[in-house]
Amino acid sequence: MESFALTRTLFSKLRLLPHVRYTTPSTMAAAPTPTRVLKCDPGSITFSGDAPIYSDPETENSIKTAVQHLTERHVVAFPTETVYGLGALALDASAAAKIFSTKGRPSDNPLIVHISSRAMLASLLPPSYTPPPTYETLMRAFWPGPLTLLFPADPSRVPSIITAGHPTVAVRMPAHPVARALIAATGAPLAAPSANASGKPSPTRAAHVMRDLGCTGRLPLLLDDGGACAVGLESTVVDGLGKDGALRVLRPGGATVEALVDALGDGAVIDGGARPRVLVHKRDFVLGRHEEDAPTTPGMKYRHYAPGVPVTLLYTAASPPPADDKGGGEGGSSSRIAARRVALDAFFRESERGASGRLGLMAQDDSPLLARARLEGARWLTFSLGESAEPARAAQRLFEGLLGLEEQGVERIFVQEVAEEREGLAFMNRIKKAAGTSLRIVDV
Ligand code: TXA
Ligand code: MG
Repeated sequence: MESFALTRTLFSKLRLLPHVRYTTPSTMAAAPTPTRVLKCDPGSITFSGDAPIYSDPETENSIKTAVQHLTERHVVAFPTETVYGLGALALDASAAAKIFSTKGRPSDNPLIVHISSRAMLASLLPPSYTPPPTYETLMRAFWPGPLTLLFPADPSRVPSIITAGHPTVAVRMPAHPVARALIAATGAPLAAPSANASGKPSPTRAAHVMRDLGCTGRLPLLLDDGGACAVGLESTVVDGLGKDGALRVLRPGGATVEALVDALGDGAVIDGGARPRVLVHKRDFVLGRHEEDAPTTPGMKYRHYAPGVPVTLLYTAASPPPADDKGGGEGGSSSRIAARRVALDAFFRESERGASGRLGLMAQDDSPLLARARLEGARWLTFSLGESAEPARAAQRLFEGLLGLEEQGVERIFVQEVAEEREGLAFMNRIKKAAGTSLRIVDV
């Protein structure tokens, strides 16, 4: 109930009107370019081959305006099925540079290139290159969708600002009709990181983008699909270019490791007839010291996903203590710190004593912590992460909860761990990076 009420309040507070230029009072003087918000109805777009067909003229006009902005080398924020992206022409270095300045993104963190067709993929790659059979299997199974694959980069085609000088380029074909239509109508690949200021949680609603980037004066246009991103966290980044044929998951995401393994079971074999292995970064492999330091799974050395209020990760299950944790993916902060152990009663007493304002708690529906926080009363704002049997729901609601509770003015957000299975692996990867501290509650 509380989470429903919270979502409703958030909606009513943040509802964005189409065709309205939003500014915030503090930035009016400093922001020469207010953000224009245009509505797009994803349900009104169908495709004939790769070409979008619109049944809603407003959506068609919104996409047309966005295409014009992009071709004039401006950035445009748009919805994808994972999170909102901040797009610009990928093959134009000066357009792509605006992504970095708008987000405050470090220039050594490469960008994902988004395509709407296989022909567009071919236009990015070295002319003589043929993707390996494993990639064919994965593209058939997951594209369009939340899977990003690394390919050899052709420096004569893809500017080095996109790849940050790496020999590979990351490519994804998004499934969201607005994203697909935008790329197809532009007729060119779009580079798009998540549409948040660097280091902040990724936005899963247009309102999140507005709050984060709308006040910078550097985001001219935002396409608003009127809802929440279906996956809720970013794509899975996979490197299958190694000589051993294994698929290395550099960043867990919307395409689960279990689903990758299943898809490979359907066909692709590598030399010798074996099925390719799926390896998860930090669980099954680490990169060379130099690569880890010079982020080959970039993003790794930067703080990520953190809202403006402190986050504490609560370990409760019979999982190994966090000091032993090896599942941190991009390299979490809290995962490296041994969690202090505390009993449930002491956790509530200490948290309340140490705070002057309200506290946020995010947990799955069957969590005793959630039930207890609700009993504690108005001091606690709770946010449901759905049933524990449905980790996709926790993943979908993670950033929404962090951003929503911050907006509600809580002093600290506690997030209970979820099982590191299916979408839970990506959930834990993100929350370990977002959390500055962790606690282990021993009697839950
Ligand atoms: O779902 C997503 O992937 C979203 C939506 C907008 O498509 N995009 C996204 O982009 O999450 P971004 O920039 O926030 O994250 C891209 C990740 C970073 O960790 C980056 O370091 C990694 O992909 N990456 C990009 N190019 C790479 C490359 N050539 N080699 C290794 N990692 C790469
Ligand atoms: Mg990001």
